[in-house]
Amino acid sequence: MDAKPTGPVRVEDLNDRRDTLTLLKTRRSASAKAMGEPGPDRQQIAELLNIAVRVPDHGKLAPWRFIIFEGEARTRAGEILKARWHELYPSHGAELLNEQRGMLERAPVVIAVVSTASEHPKIPIWEQQLSAGAVCQNMVIAATAMGLGVQWITGWFAFDEVVLRGLGVAKDERVAGFIYLGTSHGEMTDRPRPEPDDLTTYWTG
Ligand SMILES: Cc1cc2nc3c(=O)[nH]c(=O)nc-3n(C[C@H](O)[C@H](O)[C@H](O)COP(=O)(O)O)c2cc1C
Repeated sequence: MDAKPTGPVRVEDLNDRRDTLTLLKTRRSASAKAMGEPGPDRQQIAELLNIAVRVPDHGKLAPWRFIIFEGEARTRAGEILKARWHELYPSHGAELLNEQRGMLERAPVVIAVVSTASEHPKIPIWEQQLSAGAVCQNMVIAATAMGLGVQWITGWFAFDEVVLRGLGVAKDERVAGFIYLGTSHGEMTDRPRPEPDDLTTYWTG
């Protein structure tokens, strides 16, 4: 029987080592507005999460966690958004309220990446929060590689304390992003990308 590989895959062992670079060079987000079925199944979700947690993490604190919204739970969560929107904007009518209720139903699966960063004697909160961003981006890249449509979104409710408590996000936690996952039924047009040369200097002292 073949021995199981014990180390990471070496780049020279990949079937086509350019695949990763091509994916990264061409990756673009889908629009949650144009996302539909099918979404990732439970096995794909597990794979996404396994990849998501493989990020640089100073101090090995794992300062993040996940909340998954799928099926009818998205509608129940949407009721929390709707109720809060009504509280904030009592004059808004049914159309706007239903729009809020439907926010998490835009994609079959939405994964909230929650930053659980907290004071630590050695690791600044900023670094823990950056790690949560890396978790989001890993998930975006992995989902793209799996052929899914994916968009990293925050939106007003990622910052609303009432909604956050309702969704199970604690007072000392923050939402790094809601990762919308499904199948893109819209045109995935690219956007102009920054020119790295405009953003880069070589430090010369
Ligand atoms: C932290 C964070 C929050 C974001 N929130 C939103 C959002 O609320 N609405 C939105 O349309 N795009 C949001 N975006 C941008 C999208 O994730 C994405 O960058 C955009 O759709 C362009 O796609 P691209 O990945 O192809 O550049 C956010 C990005 C980040 C990093």
